[in-house]
Amino acid sequence: MSLYRAYRRLVAIRLRERVYRVPENNYLLRCFQYLCPRTIPYGAFCWNEQCQNCRVQWRLGPEEKTRVGLSCKLVVREGMEITGLAPELAGLMSRVWSASTGDIVYHPEKGREGSGDDQG
Ligand code: FES
Repeated sequence: MSLYRAYRRLVAIRLRERVYRVPENNYLLRCFQYLCPRTIPYGAFCWNEQCQNCRVQWRLGPEEKTRVGLSCKLVVREGMEITGLAPELAGLMSRVWSASTGDIVYHPEKGREGSGDDQG
């Protein structure tokens, strides 16, 4: 049995100015697992809308309104741009990019950070 919902193709999402291809019809958190299979499964995720550690900021394009959602319940959509990740997600996905993850860390209570210096 696959971890992933059935899919026929990969869809493009943007993350930190890069495009990644992930399985359509799947929850975004599962798509992150597709990108980071060695780290996401070990994260502190309930997969059930309770822990809030999977929170993301996202939009469908540069002209669209930014929204906040739980990646464990948000189905991926073609062209989705992820503009912020909760600290748990950002840390576990740091292998996707080589540089610091600080500029994409999103704290629900504080919003998006500029430098990543404030981890509190
Ligand atoms: S994984 Fe816990 S709320 Fe989404």
